[in-house]
Amino acid sequence: MTVKQSKLQELPVDLDQNRLPHHVAVIMDGNGRWAKKRGLPRIMGHQQGVDALKDLLRCCKDWGVPALTAYAFSTENWGRPLEEVDFLMTLFERVLRRELQEMMAENVKIRFVGNLESLPQSLQLEIDRGMKDTQNNRGIQFTVATNYGGRQEILQACKAIAAHVHQGLLHPDDINEELFESHLYTAGLSHPDLLIRTSGEMRLSNFLLWQMAYAEIYVTDTLWPDFDRTQFHLALSAYQHRERRFGKVM
Ligand code: IPE
Ligand code: IPE
Ligand code: MG
Repeated sequence: MTVKQSKLQELPVDLDQNRLPHHVAVIMDGNGRWAKKRGLPRIMGHQQGVDALKDLLRCCKDWGVPALTAYAFSTENWGRPLEEVDFLMTLFERVLRRELQEMMAENVKIRFVGNLESLPQSLQLEIDRGMKDTQNNRGIQFTVATNYGGRQEILQACKAIAAHVHQGLLHPDDINEELFESHLYTAGLSHPDLLIRTSGEMRLSNFLLWQMAYAEIYVTDTLWPDFDRTQFHLALSAYQHRERRFGKVM
């Protein structure tokens, strides 16, 4: 291992261990453009993006960020060409099967959020297995948003709560933020402190709409497959220079 690599395994000295985000969310965007720039088909960008995600997960572990959530497929992404959608579904399945053993060894707890019932059956099986096998792991909490839509998530929570009210199990006055959150896909997970979006786009694209109310947003022009530890270092550094006011006067 080179000196440079070994250094990057430790938290960079300019970052404050005590002020790291507890939860980082990432919109992994720009795979298609990364491939296009190289004259490759878009799917090659997705393929390459897997390595960037693996490295970010490991980096979070090395540097002490306890939770990472990655946006892998939105409810709107079904509108892409069939071959691309098929490739992505197969890629998710293949990667999950291949990486499960290593995630166990690294004590990763994986969880999938989104409308999982509409995913291909074989992918659902891998997802169930991954979540079950790692459920007692106490290392990094790794959440993958797949067939995820923030509006849909909020709607399904509303429906579940309305049904409880209808059945007389709940009074409307009992509905508060805590109860609402317990019906979200992300129940039990802390809100993201930092959202990173690659490829320069400045929008949420339906990602964690409720949970992101007070997330610090960091956008980089780097395309997702090129996002590495140096880029993550820059994002964390920017985060540590922000003043999080939560509506108060500091
Ligand atoms: C993000 O990269 C990956 C997914 C949405 C699955 P894109 O595929 O959106 O790449 P660009 O934005 O077209 O470059
Ligand atoms: C957001 O990226 C979804 C994922 C990264 C999975 P998109 O590329 O789908 O978002 P838009 O279309 O630019 O808003
Ligand atoms: Mg995109």
